[in-house]
Amino acid sequence: MSIAEKFVSMEYGPAPEDSKEALTWLERHGRRFGLFIAGAWQAPAAGEYFDTLDPSTGEPLARVAQGGAADIDSAVRAAHAASPKWHALTPHVRARYLYALARLVQKHSRLLAVLETLDNGKPIRESRDIDIPLVARHFYYHAGWAQLRDSEFPDYEPCGVVGQIIPWNFPLLMLAWKIAPALAAGNTVVLKPAEFTPLTALLFAELCQEAGLPAGVVNIVTGDGSTGDALVRHPGVDKIAFTGSTEVGRAIRSATASSHKRLSLELGGKSPFITFEDADLDSAVEGLVDGIWFNQGQVCCAGSRLLMQESIAETLMSKIRDRMSTLRIGPPLDKAIDIGAIVARVQLERIERLVAQGVSDGATCWQPQIELPSRGFFYPPTLLSGVHPTSIVAQQEIFGPVLAAMTFRTPKEAVELANNTVYGLASCVWSESINMALHIAAQLKAGVVWVNCTNLFDAACGFGGYRESGYGREGGKEGLLEYMEPKWFRHAPKLPPAKTPEAQKQVQESSSPSIDRTVKLYIGGKQTRPDSGYSVEVRSSDGRLLGEAPLGNRKDIRNAVEAARKAEGWGKATAHNRAQVLYYFAENLALRRDEILHRLAAIVGEKQAAAEVDLGIERIFSYAAWADKFDGAVHNPPFRNLAIAMNEPLGTVGAICPTDAPLLGFLSLVMPLLAVGNTVIAVPSERYPLITGDLYQIFETSDLPGGALNIVTGHVPELLKTLAEHDDIDAIWCHGDDATVAAAKTMSIGNLKQVWTNEGRLIDWFNPELAEGRWFLEHATQVKNIWVPYGE
Ligand code: NAI
Repeated sequence: MSIAEKFVSMEYGPAPEDSKEALTWLERHGRRFGLFIAGAWQAPAAGEYFDTLDPSTGEPLARVAQGGAADIDSAVRAAHAASPKWHALTPHVRARYLYALARLVQKHSRLLAVLETLDNGKPIRESRDIDIPLVARHFYYHAGWAQLRDSEFPDYEPCGVVGQIIPWNFPLLMLAWKIAPALAAGNTVVLKPAEFTPLTALLFAELCQEAGLPAGVVNIVTGDGSTGDALVRHPGVDKIAFTGSTEVGRAIRSATASSHKRLSLELGGKSPFITFEDADLDSAVEGLVDGIWFNQGQVCCAGSRLLMQESIAETLMSKIRDRMSTLRIGPPLDKAIDIGAIVARVQLERIERLVAQGVSDGATCWQPQIELPSRGFFYPPTLLSGVHPTSIVAQQEIFGPVLAAMTFRTPKEAVELANNTVYGLASCVWSESINMALHIAAQLKAGVVWVNCTNLFDAACGFGGYRESGYGREGGKEGLLEYMEPKWFRHAPKLPPAKTPEAQKQVQESSSPSIDRTVKLYIGGKQTRPDSGYSVEVRSSDGRLLGEAPLGNRKDIRNAVEAARKAEGWGKATAHNRAQVLYYFAENLALRRDEILHRLAAIVGEKQAAAEVDLGIERIFSYAAWADKFDGAVHNPPFRNLAIAMNEPLGTVGAICPTDAPLLGFLSLVMPLLAVGNTVIAVPSERYPLITGDLYQIFETSDLPGGALNIVTGHVPELLKTLAEHDDIDAIWCHGDDATVAAAKTMSIGNLKQVWTNEGRLIDWFNPELAEGRWFLEHATQVKNIWVPYGE
């Protein structure tokens, strides 16, 4: 075709990026890679290798080591050996290393981008313009945190050795999201890349050498799921950070439940893309191109569920179909390609299977007439319309270029549909009314909301999920905190194993007329009798009978959850309002100080009782003070956007309270949760549950709305089990010995709820410097980032 003819037809010619440098790099390694351990390359102990393929051709690119348990062990040992020295460096020296890595990523950006595209199949335009620049940005940003670490977090220590497992959809970017904050905080790392896409991580290992990073600070062990599993189970690992499927996230949660490894999980999503009738529809369509066809839809936060207001549905669908017809699919190294290859045949087959299921569920499938390349793993952009909200394609992550479209009538219905998922990673809201968009954003259960934009990321803005999309954040200050812990906590002694309360005798409720202290349960703002009809005797440490406490059961917990859910208005009340209620509560407790002290003294002695009551009143005041001050932040990412980071409550939280400080321990868990708007179901000290009964009246006179706080006494193992397994409980705070904590983690694997525990350690509730404040509030909230663009 002549130039003149091309000028008329406006057809694209091929514009391939040169892959020579990347291929030369592969050849230099003989297309075979070992493991990067202790700063050097070594062969895998079992001598096994596997192929990594170019998904656009299906041809092998190189052979990569299959790391086994022995290799993981030597990598963890190397990370341990490097840890004290790395941690002892000044923040400035650590910052210089991170800065050097950022510079090297920039210097080798073209090579990294081409290698990423070869190994993953994503369009070079994306790896060149999005992935690699963001990788550099993460190292720069965290070089800054490394510099500021000691001055900004003087009381914190790194976790130690961190195991990191990453997926194949953004191979180098996920590496950067994990390694940069871990190193900035002073940890050493063993990272396992995904088996489909190990190459850029191996090139990164060379950059670590080039930067002169001390040996053992970063170790890269390639391999499959079994390699990841060995890393998760290695006793020398202090924290696991994982990104990948919800299924594997659950397996990791299960494998770590009875250890004290910290865990952050970034899992799947089924993110809604909500388009209101007043949206700029052409912009929304471009947003969708980035939302679902970016990276072939292999994006955890892909806007894969299109929710359209009914009045514009037809127009929008027609615009989407027109735009889909112009998308170019083909060899990903071509600079003019929009959609590249799917990462692997197994993923391609999974997409095909799910789409077929969607169609058999009643959806209509539309695909543009685009010719697919004759080899490699390609799937066309796909629009499924008329999708029923319960269909598999509306509920399950497809992880491909497949959009499932549905309609709604009212904003309320849009929110209901959007939240009708087990996930909660991201969401988009398109409307020209900023008031409406922000009103909707506040109601969405998701860690990120993009208003009139989509798939924007920055190192300064935390990213992560609600519900089964996982917990913990990557990026921002909250992301850095995932890699550190308060020093005192790390060195706190262990609690002795709890004694089984054999001293407690079960009695028919109020059977003994000589006992005047028979408390009830407190559910929905009312004192209620236990479903079981039984109470247990409560005795002092010297054996005196103090009273009876009701024996709560599953049914009581279920009623409490229902009451807590009905009281969600507590979370929506203004912070000022919550502060007032808590001040009032403290004031009313102070008025009854002597009476409460007297009762508590019978249990724990005069001295401790006085300290518990007086410090308790102070603690409530302290959280009343915090209630309207634990603000979020406004980030300023390097685009014309604001990202509003809101500290939102977790929702309904089950709290297993400490045994030994029955009043102060209870207040120390319940007050921070209430201050930030959670509703709570508290299980008080099993040994001394009576004292909380004295608070019921005070709650009532303090205007605490019924259901915001519910109290169920009884046997901890039984009540914990019901709380942990209940799908309407969003999180568990559990304070107890090692066995109790492990039970809390194990029993809540099902719906992956957040569990925050004392890790079996002793917390000195009488020391306000340790037992109250930000650390508690941070765990009582989750950050939602709302991105809003500005400018014309
Ligand atoms: P995956 O979750 O199996 O793989 C992610 C990483 O975990 C890889 O490095 C893998 O080797 C490792 N891994 C696998 N089993 C493990 C185990 N038992 N213990 C420790 N590590 C283990 O994801 P996969 O199979 O590659 O993709 C399947 C589906 O998962 C996708 O179709 C998609 O729906 C979802 N996915 C979600 C991602 C996200 O970012 N949310 C990323 C990748 C996949």
